[in-house]
Amino acid sequence: MKTIAITGVLGYSGRYVAAEAVRRGWHVVGLTNSAGRLPNPAGYELRPMPWGTSENVLSGVDVLVNTYWVRFSYAGQRGGHAAFSHEQAVRHTLALFESARQAGVGRVVHTSITCPDSESELPYFRGKAELEQALAATGLPHSVLRPAILFGESPQESILINNMAWCLRRLPAVATFGRGEYSLQPIHVQDFAELAMDEASRSEPQRIINATGRETYTFRELWALLARSMGLWRPVLPVPHGVGYLAARVLGSLVGDVMLTRDEIAGLAQNRLAVPGSGGGTRPLSTWLQQHADTLGRAYASELSRRQ
Ligand SMILES: NC(=O)c1ccc[n+]([C@@H]2O[C@H](COP(=O)([O-])OP(=O)(O)OC[C@H]3O[C@@H](n4cnc5c(N)ncnc54)[C@H](OP(=O)(O)O)[C@@H]3O)[C@@H](O)[C@H]2O)c1
Repeated sequence: MKTIAITGVLGYSGRYVAAEAVRRGWHVVGLTNSAGRLPNPAGYELRPMPWGTSENVLSGVDVLVNTYWVRFSYAGQRGGHAAFSHEQAVRHTLALFESARQAGVGRVVHTSITCPDSESELPYFRGKAELEQALAATGLPHSVLRPAILFGESPQESILINNMAWCLRRLPAVATFGRGEYSLQPIHVQDFAELAMDEASRSEPQRIINATGRETYTFRELWALLARSMGLWRPVLPVPHGVGYLAARVLGSLVGDVMLTRDEIAGLAQNRLAVPGSGGGTRPLSTWLQQHADTLGRAYASELSRRQ
């Protein structure tokens, strides 16, 4: 039986990739910082991430799937959530790639983002571009998956979509940053997991895949689709980016979370969450929304409380 190591195996997409790997007959080793903090109901063999130990945690591993990353940089709070940053996530991921190289891992499937860009002023897209280049430089056979935004299986896991629904349920009106004409191509997390496991078995030296869904919506259309699915109507107001950010900050502080960052708004408005064509997702967002309309947005989904 071949062994696959998966980062984020107790997190969101990594958990779906692991379940798909088991279905396909792989032995799963989870690499995690969160052993003992997060439940491990599937009982995966867990090892620490490579930056926390001197042993090579990837020895004996045939394929590495990496989902590790941080959504935004956060300075932390005394007595509360620990600090984390994109710069640190880049350093950690470089250490992971180096462990894979030293252990002679046969293939790496790495999760990036649509439109990574080494020239970008946005650390998320710049860091992802740096990591794609670093992975290529290891000489390891690899596939890079570039999702735009993930949704499914439950609303609570689909943070952005769920929290848009949460806003629709609670606010008399919602907003787009500017005119809202930039696009998003959400992919179902199970489609993503299947793509990742398809790539795990490939033999080409280097593949880059846009892991996007079959439906594309502008941000404005996404508000309308969500509201329609939930049987609601709300005016959608175009507001300057700064005003939208301020509103997200106020709402975030009310729920003790970082709801949306300035950089995330800029990434959206730069149309970085969409690419031409469709990239392998088969489960449409519109169908999933109909199936989950009753529960969507009933409770806020907190990024920071995932890290407690
Ligand atoms: N979710 C989306 O909509 C989306 C959209 C585009 C691209 N992506 C990309 O897809 C990949 C997986 O996304 P995901 O949503 O499935 O990720 P996730 O489960 O939230 O995070 C993956 C793992 O990264 C570690 N991690 C996350 N936040 C951290 C923090 N603040 N501090 C320390 N460690 C942290 C955790 O490892 P431990 O459990 O070991 O602590 C977590 O299990 C990422 O590379 C992301 O850039 C996601």
